[in-house]
Amino acid sequence: DAPHPFHGDHQAGITTPVQDHLHLASFDLSSRATRKDLVALLKDWSYAASRLTQGLDVSASGAVAGPLDAPPDDTGEAFGLPASSLTITIGLGPTLFELDGVDRFGIADRRPPGLAPLPPFLGDVLKAESSHGDLCIQACADDPQVAVHAIRNLSRIAFGTAHVRWSQMGFGRTSRTTTAQATPRNLFGFKDGTANVLADDAASLERSVWVAPTDEPAWMAGGSYLVARKIEMLMETWDRVQLGEQQTIIGRDKDVGAPLSGGEELTDPDFDVEVDGAPAIDVASHVRLAHPDNNGGAQMLRRGYNYVDGSNALGRLDAGLFFLAYVRDVEQFVTVQRHLSTDLLNEYVRHVGSATFAIPPGTQPGGWIGETLL
Ligand code: HEM
Repeated sequence: DAPHPFHGDHQAGITTPVQDHLHLASFDLSSRATRKDLVALLKDWSYAASRLTQGLDVSASGAVAGPLDAPPDDTGEAFGLPASSLTITIGLGPTLFELDGVDRFGIADRRPPGLAPLPPFLGDVLKAESSHGDLCIQACADDPQVAVHAIRNLSRIAFGTAHVRWSQMGFGRTSRTTTAQATPRNLFGFKDGTANVLADDAASLERSVWVAPTDEPAWMAGGSYLVARKIEMLMETWDRVQLGEQQTIIGRDKDVGAPLSGGEELTDPDFDVEVDGAPAIDVASHVRLAHPDNNGGAQMLRRGYNYVDGSNALGRLDAGLFFLAYVRDVEQFVTVQRHLSTDLLNEYVRHVGSATFAIPPGTQPGGWIGETLL
């Protein structure tokens, strides 16, 4: 496949057909970093990303063409591999604008009003080691080695200015972003991403994903907001749930993914249909509570991944969904997540990480991500 262009009106990695693998890293700036350092970092990252996404080494001398008496610019593990659909998406966290009341980079007055740590939600058990951050890089690729190589080399470029706060690897995309992509399954075995905002639906993207020129602040026009939630799934408990009950919890059948009100995978759910006097789609099912009709029209472009971080001391999978959603306004996520407080699924999941980032608009050749802000 042809590499995805790094440059454009919007950053790549949002409407791009979801790749199979993810490595997402959150960074904190060093306490000594200045605004000049921040600008230099975003320029360096943009330049490196424009090369890596084309299947090139991080710099011209790269892995093997540099002097023998210096460490190579590029770590080399992707040398000879194709671009593998790599996209690199750069985000800015709330603390970049203001940390403990300190305006480190002179941009506090430019913070998007909706960019703040998310409010607490019922059942949150967030861990600092998988939450928040000043900056983020989402690297998605069809080869995990290529995604890891990107994060590793971009982290290296940041040395002395920013360090990795946490990072997450993911596999087996849990959504689709184009009509051409088949719907994959998540670790509970259900099709995930059936009712998503798709790249071919320009009207929904304008309404729900891209920040409009008329939105505040103007420097975000053409950008988006990323909500990342690390959600542990209690796999062994779920695996003991009867098939019928699993379907009731989700509101869809497990085989083809059709709504329990009837039809095929892509049939719209009908919440008025009853079976034996009870709603076919349970009032506390995930799909009913998450559906835009029941959330004032709020929608999001979901682009999450499965993760498995090994097993815990009881031999249970330490695994779940690394939920990623792109929205025009973080409030869209907050509305749906609040509504999910009575979700039947809550017995089987636990939110352990949370982060939000402003995703600035794309840039043209010679430009850099963040140029409209700084
Ligand atoms: C739909 C699973 C968490 C928002 C679905 C579907 C499944 C699913 C199987 C049905 C297929 C589809 O339309 O994609 C899960 C699992 C979760 C989880 C296993 C946790 C581990 C969340 C969270 C949100 C969310 C945290 C947002 C706050 C949605 C939305 C839909 C959906 C908006 C589409 C509803 C519709 O329009 O019909 N999810 N989900 N999900 N989920 Fe989740």
